[in-house]
Formats: sequence, C-alpha cells, structure tokens
Amino acid sequence: MLTDDIVESSHVKETLKKLSLLWRDRAVVNNGPKDYTSIAFDSAKPDFAESLLPFRSHPRWLSAAPELKSTVLSYAWAIYNLKTVYIECDIVTPACEALIKSPVGGGHARYELQQVMSEALLDEALHTKMSISACNYIYQHRKLKPVDYTDFNLVTWRARLLAQCDSEWKRRLTTFAIACASETLITDYLKTLSDDAAIQPLCREVTRAHAIDEWGHSSVFSVAAEHIVGSLSESERAYFANVVPKTVEMFADNEMGAWSTVLTYLDFPHCKEIVEDSEKIGHVKVYQDSVATLLSKLGLPARVN
Ligand SMILES: [Fe+2]
Ligand SMILES: [Fe+2]
Repeated sequence: MLTDDIVESSHVKETLKKLSLLWRDRAVVNNGPKDYTSIAFDSAKPDFAESLLPFRSHPRWLSAAPELKSTVLSYAWAIYNLKTVYIECDIVTPACEALIKSPVGGGHARYELQQVMSEALLDEALHTKMSISACNYIYQHRKLKPVDYTDFNLVTWRARLLAQCDSEWKRRLTTFAIACASETLITDYLKTLSDDAAIQPLCREVTRAHAIDEWGHSSVFSVAAEHIVGSLSESERAYFANVVPKTVEMFADNEMGAWSTVLTYLDFPHCKEIVEDSEKIGHVKVYQDSVATLLSKLGLPARVN
C-alpha cells in the first residue's frame, strides 16, 4: 500500500511539473500583452451565438424584430462575460488561494501543487481583465447601457452550501469540488463561441484565447483532484462525489434572473412569458460528459442526491 502511495504521488508530481512547463509555453499571460480591443468591430455580425440562448426556440423570440434580437445578443455577450468574471473571482480564485496557502494532500507534490495553482490564479486574473475589456468594447461600439447583475445562481448556491458546512474540512472540500467541476466544464462552455466564425471577431478571439488556458486548467484541476481525493477518508470522498454533480446542474443553469433584468430593461415584447417558459426548460445536458469522465478517473460514483 505504501509503495502504491509513493508511485501514485510521484506520478502526480511529474504530471504537475509537465503541466507547469506547458503553461510557460502556452498560457496567454506568457505570450506578451495583447490588445484585443484593437480588433476591428463588425457591426453586421452578432455579438453572441443565438444557439446558446435559453429561449432560442421560443415563438416570441422567433417573431421579434431583427434589430431588437441583435441588441439581445449583445447583452447575451455581457451576461456571459459577467458570469465568467464571477466564476473566475468567486469560484476558481478562492480554490487556488486555499491550495497555495495550505496545499492539502500535502507530502510529495506540495511544491508542484502550489506552483500550478499560482499559475492558474495568474491566468484567471488575466481572464477577468479580458472579459471586462471585451464586454465594454461591445457596450461602447453598440452604445448600450451596461447591465448590473450580481445574483448568479451558481454563485449564490455556492455561498449557501458553504454556509451550511459544519466543519473546516467540508468548507475546504466544497470550495475545491465546485472549482474543480467548474474548471472541467468551462472548456465546453467556451467551445461553441470560440468555434463560431459567424460571431463578432473580438468575441471569438477572446473566447478562443480563454479556451486555450482552460484546456490547461482542466488538466491541472483533474490532476490536483487525483492528488487530493487520494488523501481523503471514505466520508470525505463521498462528500466530494456528491458536490461535483450538483455543480454541473448549477453551472448549466440558464440564469433567467439575469435574462429577466435585460429583457425587461429592453421592453422586449412578451418578456414575462419568455422568462417563465424558459425557466421550465431543463439545463444544458452537454456538460454532463466531461464531469462523468472526471469522476470515473477519480474512481468516484457519478450521482446527484
Ligand atoms: Fe478562466
Ligand atoms: Fe480556469
């Protein structure tokens, strides 16, 4: 058993070292300052993919005026970026900071774990800056009033779950499990936009650059999870396995509160009906696969309680 543990932790250590080397070459932060806002604005292109709207098939949406639909797509870009900023600042950053300050799972890969987490932290700070600039670029070119929204379901759910934790290990594990699931899911979330040649060039470029970093992060968090889960007790493992699928559900949430704010502000015809109908629509299913793979790699059951 002891031999297995040593082999296991040296595998984690070596993999984290390799990921750190890849980060030096590939991370956006290491490839010189880039001003995405110098990319030419194309007023004829939509600022977001219609296929990602929760109400894309709703008859009231389909029959709306094209100019109004175009403005809604600009606000979709804003909501998307605002949610990204919340994920970076309120979900991933606290998990990176906790592991840098106190690398659980400790032992062999302690230094490497701190190293990759400090690199991810640096990336997330840059992504926050990229999201804000990209969002303001669209507001300025389209001459739109910025939307203020702070109650993303993913973030308020996380705060509730942390408030219910009755011990420090549960709080730490909750912080890590939610970040770990989010980091596994975010690549799928970015893929549609980064592959879409029909959308605003800046929106595509910023999403593509972010996606490159997130491919790295999904490996970093999955190897960190391997390391951390390996050091947990049976009950801690069960707790982790329970939080991850719940995060999937919240990550894929349609965030209709944000949509209600925007559609009401735009005085979009029948907006109440659109919001009510969209709230009944299930969450995006596409996210399930990558998390199921993560759990099976960790030897944990995929279940939602
Ligand atoms: Fe990010
Ligand atoms: Fe990330």
